Amino acid sequence: MKRNHLNRRDFLKGAASAAAVSTLPVTTVELAFADPAKSFSFAYISDSHIQHVKGDQFVNNWDRGLIRAVAETNMLRPKPDFVMFGGDLAQLGTKAELDHGAEMLAKLNYPTHCLLGEHDYYLDLGEYWSELYGPHWYSFDHKGVHFVVLNSILTHDEWTFERWPTPEQRMLEMAGLDNPNGSPFMVGEKQRAWLATDLEGVAKTTPVVVFSHSPIQKIYKGWNFWTDDAEQVQALLAPFNDATVIYGHVHQIQYNQIGNISFHAVMATAWPWPYPQSYAQAETYLPKLTVPMNRADPFHERDATGWQFINLETGRVAMTYQLNNNTDRTVAYNRETGRPEDTTFQSPESRISPQIHY
Ligand SMILES: [Fe+2]
Ligand SMILES: [Fe+2]
Repeated sequence: MKRNHLNRRDFLKGAASAAAVSTLPVTTVELAFADPAKSFSFAYISDSHIQHVKGDQFVNNWDRGLIRAVAETNMLRPKPDFVMFGGDLAQLGTKAELDHGAEMLAKLNYPTHCLLGEHDYYLDLGEYWSELYGPHWYSFDHKGVHFVVLNSILTHDEWTFERWPTPEQRMLEMAGLDNPNGSPFMVGEKQRAWLATDLEGVAKTTPVVVFSHSPIQKIYKGWNFWTDDAEQVQALLAPFNDATVIYGHVHQIQYNQIGNISFHAVMATAWPWPYPQSYAQAETYLPKLTVPMNRADPFHERDATGWQFINLETGRVAMTYQLNNNTDRTVAYNRETGRPEDTTFQSPESRISPQIHY
């Protein structure tokens, strides 16, 4: 155990010096806000999938992804105000995995908020996670922005409580893609009622940013890139001038605009998922606005993984993907077109004629 600690510290030292020469989004920061009091940024790390092997052994690749993201986030200047962790800290929700992941996250030099992914949840229904991180859903205010943290990976009570002989089997059934025994994710009636009450006290001109694990939109049901009651949650956000949803779970770049609501997915630190259409040959509702991520080298273990730096200028998100082994990308809200756009790759056609497939 002791040896592990030493190794990790040594690695962090190495990662820190590597990060010092890498490209951090300094220009984005320098060009920030007219009113410095309202200006801030935060970082987003997600989907680490820390996986226990046996004893004190964990899958090294997944450990390395999270360690690198934490080290690079700690190097950001100016400093982000806080870090959000977007769920799937663990692979199979065990105490060993959650503790090991929490130990790595604890090295962040900033206040850190966490949300639940299905891999954290379906073993003990978030009981141990709660001991580490508190309530399953909550909200907080920061410099004039209202942040809402949802647990979007709930499902039907019958599936959760009655169908499986053991918690371990329930966890494994929910962990798979293309599993006919799975069940669609949802926020659920109880949480939606809480959200409605929470938002009642928020002025419609206040920017609202929602953090969820699954997309609060419908992309592809077979992989649960999907939230069954997405429209009902969207309806609660509809009255706000500036609403944004940031989600994990899909391990790939996606963005969309539905009415007033902007959507941004974040990368995983563990591995990338392919786009469903290219892999499962299935119909998906990947927003046509999205310029897919480029995987320069699919055989490189860290390719198409990464973490995010987020600038909240005027209440809308400018998300810079810090891509390991790939060129960083920024997807920022464009006030002229009224939607998020990739600052480099968005085609002129999609600027003129939005094809929001939803
Ligand atoms: Fe994940
Ligand atoms: Fe997930």
